[in-house]
Amino acid sequence: MIETKIIRIDPFNINRDLLKEASLIIQKGGLVAFPTETVYGLGADVFNTEALKRIFAVKRRPMDNPLIIHICRKEDVYEVAEEVPKEATKLIEEMWPGPLTLILRKSKEIPYEATGGLETVAVRMPAHPVALEFICLSDTFIAAPSANISGRPSPTKAEHVIRDFYGIIEAIIDSGETLFGIESTILNVLTDPPTLLRPGAYPVELIMEILRREISIPPFAKGFGEADIALAPGTKYRHYAPNTPLILIESSNYSMFNLDKIVNEIFSRVINDLKSNKRVAVIASRETINKYRNLLENYENVIIIDIGSRSNLYEIAKRIFDTFRRLDDLGVDIAYIEGFEERGIGLSIMNRIRKAATQKIRI
Ligand code: TXA
Ligand code: MG
Repeated sequence: MIETKIIRIDPFNINRDLLKEASLIIQKGGLVAFPTETVYGLGADVFNTEALKRIFAVKRRPMDNPLIIHICRKEDVYEVAEEVPKEATKLIEEMWPGPLTLILRKSKEIPYEATGGLETVAVRMPAHPVALEFICLSDTFIAAPSANISGRPSPTKAEHVIRDFYGIIEAIIDSGETLFGIESTILNVLTDPPTLLRPGAYPVELIMEILRREISIPPFAKGFGEADIALAPGTKYRHYAPNTPLILIESSNYSMFNLDKIVNEIFSRVINDLKSNKRVAVIASRETINKYRNLLENYENVIIIDIGSRSNLYEIAKRIFDTFRRLDDLGVDIAYIEGFEERGIGLSIMNRIRKAATQKIRI
């Protein structure tokens, strides 16, 4: 056990002296968890290979799964990457700072420990005042994966980071809940057309609008199957998962008719589980929650969780990881979740749910 400093920073009124303490820890080779607009990151100085190795060790992350390099000025991309293709420049101009990570050819200065041995590098400029100030004060670039133990749901609150890393890393900057609650969108701009490696907080529709062309969306980006490991190293590992078995019931669309079918499917499965003395959780949308409440009101051992409204998928995205973590705290034996429309951030939500699910059922 080491001493973990909890440094509270109000994003609306940043205390630079306090934040400076965190950047000093980075400069001395320590690990600092920090907030971004997506999820909390577990940061280290990208040029300190010992610190990078420790990130992999404490996260129990395979060494071939590379990190994202965080910068605080757009022009720093030229230090991290060897070259910046035209389309990348366009995206950087329009979308940074913001939740878009670009895969570029790495510069010689970036150590292979950060890129999992690859010649490419993932880079982003986060749209969070504390993250930006923290990176700039550290006077380096910050390599950071999400601040969770490998395979666990990503952290959207400092409490989540404390749960996974208290006594293990030097400091945690606590700036409250993150804005999006789902990670950045990862786009490989080295392919033609560019390839979506991970849908995230930035909708792919907007990327296509800016580039004025389609981008490639492989099945693994939707959360199905596995990718070519060399191209998308992160996709070969099970992700975001609660320990509780999670069953996804999805459909081709979410009309009232299909939602009723989903509710009935989940209801009959829950009844079966209850018969075999299991404790069950149902993760419901605001549009369906009352139906479960009515159907299940006479049963004990079933917990119904409100994940938010289908009319505001950002709300659902923001709650998804916290809800996954809550499942484990509730001590249920099995959980069900409904699918969501794969539009905008809905694609990212479905990617996370499919990767977390132990079973996917389409009705
Ligand atoms: O929103 C985010 O992106 C958060 C915050 C902290 O910035 N970070 C994050 O990092 O989600 P992480 O490590 O959980 O996810 C990074 C993903 C991994 O799936 C990794 O495989 C992929 O980025 N990646 C990193 N470098 C890559 C590369 N050179 N080529 C392809 N994929 C890469
Ligand atoms: Mg992660």
